[in-house]
Amino acid sequence: MNIRVLHDKMDSVTARQDELDNLEQARAVAEALEVLGHEVVRTGAGLDIPTLARDLEQDRPDLVFNLVEACAGQPRLGHFVPALLESRELRFTGCPAWALLTASDKLRVKRLLHRAGLCTPKWFTLRRLARDAVDPCGTFILKPVHEHGSVGLDIDAVVPVMDRVHLLDALRRRQRETGLEFFAEAYVEGREINVALLERDGRPMALPPAEILFQDFDREFGEQAPRILDYASKWDGQSFAYQHTPRRFRFPESDKELLQRCRELAMECWELLDMRGYARIDLRVDAQGRPQIIDVNPNPCLAPDAGFAAAGLQAGMDYTALVDAVVGAALR
Ligand SMILES: Nc1ncnc2c1ncn2[C@@H]1O[C@H](COP(=O)(O)OP(=O)(O)O)[C@@H](O)[C@H]1O
Ligand SMILES: [Mg+2]
Repeated sequence: MNIRVLHDKMDSVTARQDELDNLEQARAVAEALEVLGHEVVRTGAGLDIPTLARDLEQDRPDLVFNLVEACAGQPRLGHFVPALLESRELRFTGCPAWALLTASDKLRVKRLLHRAGLCTPKWFTLRRLARDAVDPCGTFILKPVHEHGSVGLDIDAVVPVMDRVHLLDALRRRQRETGLEFFAEAYVEGREINVALLERDGRPMALPPAEILFQDFDREFGEQAPRILDYASKWDGQSFAYQHTPRRFRFPESDKELLQRCRELAMECWELLDMRGYARIDLRVDAQGRPQIIDVNPNPCLAPDAGFAAAGLQAGMDYTALVDAVVGAALR
């Protein structure tokens, strides 16, 4: 087939590590597609949608492998490209524009999860804190509404909160410092589990769940320090956090029910957002042993060293086979 790989358009000199990763994904996917015998063209997609539209109209690829995460550096515009592909009736891999648009706003996802009765930690928006006599108390994590890849998250993102004014101040400070929009979510101290989903015969199939381990965090950061996958742990290979947060796929028998519940929740997220192709759901286990959904990723990182490919490998699919499966799902 003639396959067009679309990725984020960026200036590779000024781009951050998390942004450059998108190019790495495009390179790896293109290589796998070539091994599979396809003809591949890679194109960076930005805000110039009319040019992209003309280009695709002329070429009419058999399939678009859509890796676009952000348009002009903005994750909340990432759905522009699949929306264009849908309007031109071009086949493409992964989730439809609606799922990508929905997931580009973590508050929107949380409202949907909450209404559907799916466990997600309680949260407060700046607007609600400023308006209502709410009483937030406990430990919170301050998260950007529209980012992913742990952009805007460091160890200071986790804050003990005394009252409403305190949390309001913390959120406003964070917004001032970063220029991003933030909300506060109850910090879930417990274990972190990811479930990767891959569409097979029109249905989501859960790949083996992974747990992220936080090794020796006590020793390095102190007992009270939060255990989170912050920006450094994902993108700074030299950092302690990066080197001490491996994922493992082996679980004791006693986790059987927990993992089953994680898979069920992941499947429910798939239905809720009407996802296609592939996705990954991030969960944390609360003090009562209940998994809580913290992140729904309709376009999870497909780099060969990232969680999705690692889960594929656990299921017996090497990287090329995984890329082939993603293509297969899009052709159905
Ligand atoms: N409510 C929470 N409680 C504990 N840790 C959290 C919570 N929300 C996020 N984190 C930590 O921050 C990381 C990144 O947050 P996440 O919501 O997954 O955003 P991203 O889209 O950047 O991956 C998670 O992998 C987890 O380690
Ligand atoms: Mg996440």
